[in-house]
This record gives sequence, C-alpha cells and structure tokens, in this order.
Amino acid sequence: MSALVFDRVSKSVRTTEGPRRILHEVNLHIEKGRFVALTGRSGAGKSTLLSIAGGLDAEYEGTAAVHGHDWRSLKDGARARQRNAAVGFVLQIPRLFSHLSVWQNLTAPAWIAGHAADTSRGEKLLARVGLGAVSKRAVSGLSGGERQRLTVARALINKPTLLLCDEPTGNLDRQTGGELLDLLVELQKEEALTIFVVTHDQHVIARADTVLTIKDGALV
Ligand SMILES: Nc1ncnc2c1ncn2[C@@H]1O[C@H](COP(=O)(O)OP(=O)(O)OP(=O)(O)O)[C@@H](O)[C@H]1O
Ligand SMILES: [Mg+2]
Repeated sequence: MSALVFDRVSKSVRTTEGPRRILHEVNLHIEKGRFVALTGRSGAGKSTLLSIAGGLDAEYEGTAAVHGHDWRSLKDGARARQRNAAVGFVLQIPRLFSHLSVWQNLTAPAWIAGHAADTSRGEKLLARVGLGAVSKRAVSGLSGGERQRLTVARALINKPTLLLCDEPTGNLDRQTGGELLDLLVELQKEEALTIFVVTHDQHVIARADTVLTIKDGALV
C-alpha cells in the first residue's frame, strides 16, 4: 500500500518578475512504513513539496495522493479532516500556542479533531521527547529546541499514519537529536508510521531507508 504518491506534481507562482516555477513534474512513491529523507539546497523546493504532500497547499498541477486520495479531490472540510486524522506535521518554523501550556499544545490536535486526547500516549510522548517534567509550563518559557521537540510529540498525538517533518533536528544537539530520531524509528516499526523528512542532518540521513535529493524543483 502506498502512503504517498506524487504523479507529475508541478507548481508555479506569480511573482513581480513574472511566473516562477517552484516544482517541476515531481514523481514520488513512498510505501507505507518507510522512512524517506529529502535533501537539497535552500530554495530547492523542499518545504513546498512537503506542504503539498500534507495537503496544506492544494495549488499544484498533477496528483498528490495520501493513502489513495488526491488532496485536490477533497473539499476544504474533508481535506482538513483527512489531514488532522492521517498526517502529523513538524513545520520548519514551529507554530505553537505560546500562552498555552505544553500539555495543552500537545493535545490540541485531538481537541481540534473533536475527541479527547489519549492521555497515556500523551504522557509517553512527552517523556520520550524529554518534556515530561514541564507539562504544565507555558510554551513561552521553552527554549527553541524544547519547542521543536514539543512539535514532534504534538505531530504524533493523533497516531498519524504519515509523519512529515521539516528539519526536525535543526535546533538540537547531537544527543537530543539522536533520541528524537530513535523515537521516530521506533514508531516507524511499532505503528507502521511512514516518515518523510526534510533534513541536512547526516545522522538522520543515515537512518533513512531512502534518500531523495531535489534540485531547482525537480528530484534528481
Ligand atoms: N508563494 C510563493 N511565492 C513566491 N515564491 C515562493 C512561494 N513559495 C515558495 N517560493 C519560492 O520557491 C522556492 C522554494 O521554496 P521552499 O520553501 O520550498 O524551499 P526550501 O527547499 O524549503 O528551502 P530552505 O532549505 O531554505 O527551507 C524558494 O525560492 C521560495 O522563495
Ligand atoms: Mg524549507
């Protein structure tokens, strides 16, 4: 079963200097339970590709399907539900509710989906990312690396089948990054989680089943 399939995905945007091509006929096939890393220079199109993969950006040509559903064939409400149920996101710039607590942020995807959070899963995830002791603290008091770890735990709270991460270890020291990576690989095995991660971190790349490179909007 394919977790993520791109069939000739292209994207262009209009800029003041005229149209600009960001992605060009990207084909991609990721089987369920695989760990795939995506590398490429700054501006190559990595974050754009990830946004389309997760249904955050539906302005593209071609097909981008998660578990057989092209994002664009879903109406806005259905797309949001599918995203919340199936996809976990770790964005390049963490977006957290800074006035809310660590626990409230962690469990936000559950209440957005309209159900109570799985408390024992939440506690386990927080402990695994080293934030078990600061559960009640406001996010505004966390360091950059702590915020990044919280976004990874939050991305996993709804038990997604596809995890999309943009530089998840970018702000972490080697040991902390390694622990986070261990958690991901463990969930890949235990929960058949499919992981698609944008990274330049050689330790992450070394653990991936497949490494893809994007250059000027095309996979090479
Ligand atoms: N809406 C937009 N309008 C104009 N240009 C855009 C838009 N979105 C992305 N771009 C441009 O497309 C290119 C690819 O952007 P993207 O964010 O995907 O790069 P990236 O590979 O993630 O880079 P980085 O490693 O710096 O995060 C960049 O040059 C960016 O400026
Ligand atoms: Mg990026």
